[in-house]
Amino acid sequence: MQQQEAAGQAPRTSLHGHWSSRLAFILAVTGSAVGLGNIWKFPYLAGQNGGGAFVLVYLLCVFVIGMPVMMSEILIGRRGRRNPVATMALLGEEEGHSRRWQWVGAMAVVTGLFILSYYSVVAGWTLAYVQKSMSGVFVGASPAQVSAVFESFTGSWAQVGIAHTLFMAVTIFVVARGVERGLEQAVKFMVPALILLMLILLGYSINSGSFGLGFKFMFSPNFAALSWDGVLAAMGQAFFTLSLGMGAVMAYGAYLPEETSITSTSAVVILADTAIAILAGLVIFPLVFANGLNPSEGPGLVFDTLPLAFGQMRGGVFFATIFFVLLAFAAWTSALGLMEPAVAWLVEHSHRTRAQAAVMVGGLVWSVGFGTVLSFNALSGFRLLRGTIYDNLDYITSNVMLPLGGLLITIFAAWVMCRNSSADELGGAGAIFKSWRFLARYVAPVAIAFIFLRAVGVLG
Ligand code: PFF
Repeated sequence: MQQQEAAGQAPRTSLHGHWSSRLAFILAVTGSAVGLGNIWKFPYLAGQNGGGAFVLVYLLCVFVIGMPVMMSEILIGRRGRRNPVATMALLGEEEGHSRRWQWVGAMAVVTGLFILSYYSVVAGWTLAYVQKSMSGVFVGASPAQVSAVFESFTGSWAQVGIAHTLFMAVTIFVVARGVERGLEQAVKFMVPALILLMLILLGYSINSGSFGLGFKFMFSPNFAALSWDGVLAAMGQAFFTLSLGMGAVMAYGAYLPEETSITSTSAVVILADTAIAILAGLVIFPLVFANGLNPSEGPGLVFDTLPLAFGQMRGGVFFATIFFVLLAFAAWTSALGLMEPAVAWLVEHSHRTRAQAAVMVGGLVWSVGFGTVLSFNALSGFRLLRGTIYDNLDYITSNVMLPLGGLLITIFAAWVMCRNSSADELGGAGAIFKSWRFLARYVAPVAIAFIFLRAVGVLG
């Protein structure tokens, strides 16, 4: 009875207003999705995990798990229309279950902050690379010279710390002022410009002589090179790149107008995000092979390959500068999504102003970020469990917390919410709804649980 009432209620509105259009929402979610995950993280993970097989598993995870999870997050967000913690509590109760679902929201918020702590450090690298590109150090540089620039920069905790501080400061500033229309505008310009520059780089890569090798590395699957840990990394990356499992998309969904189609919106965002990651791989791997670099070198991969290409290109100083500016922007729009749920929660729970909340949350994240800053220099020799402090943070957030968050969110949407409520959000109980429900009830949860248990060694 309670469930039927829930399904038949009048539409709820968000306290913070709604997106002006479907395009505005698509841009905001795309802005959150497209970031360092596509251009920095995807290529280096693919490189570390043997290429083709990783890419294939990643693509499968994006479409088979990512799509239903994204739809689940948006539909929960739109139905609750509050911050992720409050939304989960409200809907948990309304659907006749328990307010305790709020802990899923709380876990999501904490995950976002941990991710931001290292995301900001790498975003700081891109800021530093704007300045380095402008200075012309990469012009005509050899692979050894380019990697020496990276080593000496990341080797200095002070330089990396300053860049991280700068990036956090701008993020705090924008979050404090509220997510303005300016950002929507920035995304509208930034994503196409980033694609354009990537296409220019692709042209260069195609002519570099090793395009075939790079292409083969990315698309011919060698399953012998992929461990279960690599499969888990591919799934973690699917969550990371689509900003899933931590309430960011849920928070944005809260401002989505009633009549917008959740399915087609998710499809557009997922296709755009995937296209950019694949494009990044197609640019980077040919450069790796053309220059005798090691595809599995890790987080420095992009910073060691792209400057080489720019350094040999006519107008390279200009293009390199623009590229790193755009990458910093892409990181920035993602960072806002990482911080927003925590700030929204603090504002609603403690009656602090938005500016105070942004400074408090940002300050905390900034200090935790020094763990990552030091992972590449003073504490690079300090190893526990998975490696450096950065390696551990990355593993726990991407490979454990995001899939767990995504699993619980999907279970909530597909099993706890009554059929009428979810059908209501997905535009009726037609074929799309049925496919979503099948994927969200069975396929995604089983796949997530299986991959996770297999990778940690519980299943065989
Ligand atoms: N999706 C972003 C990227 O690929 O760079 C990272 C991210 C942003 C994850 C926002 C989660 C999030 F809420």
